[in-house]
Amino acid sequence: MNKTKKPCCGGEPEETSPQKAAAEIKQEVKMRYDQFAKEGGSAEGCCPLVGESTESFALEHGLYSQEDLALIPKLAINLSRGCGNPTSFANLQLGEVVADLGSGGGIDLVLAAHKVGSTGKVIGIDFAPHMIERAKQVMEEAGLSNRAEFILLDIENPQVPDNIADVVISNCVINLCHCKPCVYKQVFDILKHGGRLAISDIVTIGDIDPKVREYFQSIWSGCTGGAIPEDEYFKIVQDVGFSQIKVVARHILNPKELDEMASCPGKKFSPAFSEEKLAQMQGKIVSTKFLAVKPEE
Ligand SMILES: C[S@@+](CC[C@H](N)C(=O)[O-])C[C@H]1O[C@@H](n2cnc3c(N)ncnc32)[C@H](O)[C@@H]1O
Repeated sequence: MNKTKKPCCGGEPEETSPQKAAAEIKQEVKMRYDQFAKEGGSAEGCCPLVGESTESFALEHGLYSQEDLALIPKLAINLSRGCGNPTSFANLQLGEVVADLGSGGGIDLVLAAHKVGSTGKVIGIDFAPHMIERAKQVMEEAGLSNRAEFILLDIENPQVPDNIADVVISNCVINLCHCKPCVYKQVFDILKHGGRLAISDIVTIGDIDPKVREYFQSIWSGCTGGAIPEDEYFKIVQDVGFSQIKVVARHILNPKELDEMASCPGKKFSPAFSEEKLAQMQGKIVSTKFLAVKPEE
């Protein structure tokens, strides 16, 4: 698994460097999700539209259908903190290898494992040790552990193995990462040539008062603090080398969804934020679902 590539962003930040903030953010995010997983998640809803959609709505909007949810152990539902359902639009095939970046409690691993069948494999990657443990528990409960592997790893880190996956999925994770180009470089390397990407993530649109943006970035609250403008996000995906980028669904979060998303994985775990600043973000936070392809050699 070890690679000799140079770390992205110049490696581990020095104590006094401006990147210290990035290291602190990463540690906070890791602790927040690890604690959430340790407690077994929460039945209190966080992320929008899970379980509330009809079959056709779910398919059209890249969300979970009732049929999907029936396959998922309750623990995975309680740990689910996504902003879509990448397995609904990834067009997964029997025998494929799927890597889920920031796999959390394993909701998408379960659905992907059903789709790739006994000849396929799913690889859950997460940096929170309790998340990995919970996802293993979930896969066992779902009777799918023989199709699953796990890697405890930071997805911004260049030690992720190369050319291991036909498909990379990720659900509401990359917004939390400080260095998005680092993550997409990893995603590119993890994929085999001709492999594809199915991502659900959070981006921003429109003009946002720089002070409001700074405020969210400073507390890195929920899945809004690290969200970047939509055009900037897709430029990163393109610059890394992906082609055929296609947005399959896009949804502007309503006030309730925004409130929940801003405090992901839940108000008990996330820093408190200003209601006034949140109101200024309304209409500007979007859940996007897209596909892209790593070109053939
Ligand atoms: C919002 S949750 C989403 C979990 C899951 N994808 C889902 O849909 O329920 C974000 C997950 O990404 C993980 N994560 C965040 N940053 C990461 C990083 N740099 N490397 C690996 N995992 C990360 C967290 O530990 C957490 O499990």
